[in-house]
This record gives sequence, C-alpha cells and structure tokens, in this order.
Amino acid sequence: MQIFLDSADIADLKAAAATGLVDGVTTNPSLIAKSGRKIADVIAEICALIPGPVSAEAVATDVEGMLAEGRYLRSIASNVTVKLPLTRDGLIACRTLAAEGTPVNVTLCFSAVQALLAAKAGATFISPFIGRLDDGGHDGMELIREIRQVYDNYGYETRILAASVRTVGHMRDAALAGADCSTIPPSVFNALYKHPLTDLGLAAFLKDWASTGQSIL
Ligand code: G3P
Repeated sequence: MQIFLDSADIADLKAAAATGLVDGVTTNPSLIAKSGRKIADVIAEICALIPGPVSAEAVATDVEGMLAEGRYLRSIASNVTVKLPLTRDGLIACRTLAAEGTPVNVTLCFSAVQALLAAKAGATFISPFIGRLDDGGHDGMELIREIRQVYDNYGYETRILAASVRTVGHMRDAALAGADCSTIPPSVFNALYKHPLTDLGLAAFLKDWASTGQSIL
C-alpha cells in the first residue's frame, strides 16, 4: 500500500520523508490556505522534496477553468497530479487532462457510482473521503470495499486513494479493504509505528541486556 501525506506543511513533510516511507503527497485548497503560501511556491517545494505524486487541486468549477488551472499546476513540476472535484465538469476536464497524459486525482468522492464514473473518465486516483462519511453517521470503509469490488469487476486501473483518514484504525481498515493508497495527516503517520507493547517489550529487552554487561560492538 502506498502512503501519501495529506499536508502542505514543509517541516512535517520533511520529517516524514526522512523515514523513506512516504510515497506521495496530497494537498487541497484548505491545506494550501493553512500554509499561508502561494500555491505554486509550496507545490514546487513539495515536489522537490518528495519524488512521488503530489496532488495540487484546481479551484475553478467550470471545464475550461479547470483545464487552464490543471495545465498550469502540471507545469510546476513533472510529479504534479492534478486534483479535480467529482462534479460533471470535473469529470469532463479529467477526461481531457488524462488524454493529454496528465495524472488526475478525482476528489470528494462519496459513492461507488461516482468512483465508477471517475474511472471511466480516466482518473489515475479516486479519493473517497472516509472520515467525512463517518462524521455523517455513514460507514466510510464500506465505500472503499464497494469501490474495490466495482473496479475489480471491470478491471479499472484507477487507484483507490483512501482520503479523509483520521485514525490508525482507518489506515488499517483501508488496507484490509484493498485501498491502493492512503493519504494521511502527519499526526496519523507519526502514530502508525507506535504500539504500547512495542515500547514495553523494548524496555524489558534493554533492561535484561544491561544485566549481561555485554556490548555488541
Ligand atoms: O485532502 C482530502 C482529505 O484527506 C481531507 O480530509 O480530514 O479534512 O476530511 P479531512
């Protein structure tokens, strides 16, 4: 499973990238606003830092505007993936950009039928929003399972990018449900490798080792 960071915070991205476990980055207009920086500057810096796909989202809502913004965002760096919303115009723009060879991440997906349309439009990634479905009393993970089934039924190669991932449990369940990638905030990334039994076990091993008086080197 590929792990993407859902952040535009350079310090957080650098720290996570140092583990060698980060395969890409996703941003959205809210994350760019939070960074307080110009989108072109922050996307260029992230693209130089992380060699994998970096999603940069268009904000136009009409086809022509999305195409113009998408082409501009794609010109920033060769690893930019253009992010478009799952609307009628977004899918039309997705088809055009995909035909031009631009990878597209179709975002704000809340149903398996929407995901089916994104695959037909040539999306490289589909982003189902797990946490926001859960927020509304629905089962976000069921959506991942449904999309996996639909894509496997028809051999679609669009990659399922579990988004709006809020917890380590979401990450585990998305992996079990067959998501190809998961995009997670740095706080969740930093929690992924932690387990209280790992800490307790390590402390016990080190205590016993110290009692031997040995050193390995
Ligand atoms: O970037 C899209 C998605 O991951 C946003 O997550 O937590 O704002 O619902 P969230």
